[in-house]
Amino acid sequence: MASTSQNHQYGENVIVLPPTAQLQALLTLIRDEKTHRGDFVFYSDRIIRLLVEEGLNNLPVVPKEVRTPTGVDFNGVSFEGRICGVSIMRAGEAMEAGLRDCCRSVRIGKILIQRDEETTLPKLFYAKLPEDISDRFVLLLDPMLATGGSCLKAIEVLLEHGVKEDKILFLNLIASPLGIQAVSQRFPKMKTITAWVDAGLDEHAYITPGLGDFGDRYFL
Ligand code: URA
Repeated sequence: MASTSQNHQYGENVIVLPPTAQLQALLTLIRDEKTHRGDFVFYSDRIIRLLVEEGLNNLPVVPKEVRTPTGVDFNGVSFEGRICGVSIMRAGEAMEAGLRDCCRSVRIGKILIQRDEETTLPKLFYAKLPEDISDRFVLLLDPMLATGGSCLKAIEVLLEHGVKEDKILFLNLIASPLGIQAVSQRFPKMKTITAWVDAGLDEHAYITPGLGDFGDRYFL
């Protein structure tokens, strides 16, 4: 189903959540260096929930008729196809609970990508994916999209496992313009759903203004 929040500044395959006052307030809370861990987790989880709902909103549905307890038929819809989640470790694991809250007993795989010290390129270190992943829609989870290197590598891994590009939805809290362009241009058939696109990257490849290291703030 098409979403009213689509924003085509970065291409038709990029959806930026509407910048409501609520979303801006939640992002302000998690960006604040004074926010301690408990609040960081609570407010990040609220944004993650918005992203998961928007991701699910982009899955296909088919007509479904049900009879209500009033004895009247209702012409509704039901989801078509099966889904799974794949988190890019470690920060992406923070988004798993939000997905489970919306999709009971969803299968979730994991991918670990790190910089290869010799080549400096992103390298796959570990992947554990559902064996039938090629039949599923995949919600790929990573909260921070900086240069896009890990995300691009993770998508390559999914494609190597037979996932169709147009069945990948990448869910992300904060993106840099460089990262979002790199991902959406290289893989035009997959969708990226992000809560916010920030100004850029600093000299350490951190998103700026950003929120620092998401994994450290969520898990430590
Ligand atoms: N990962 C983070 O946690 N923060 C950034 O700013 C970039 C990548």
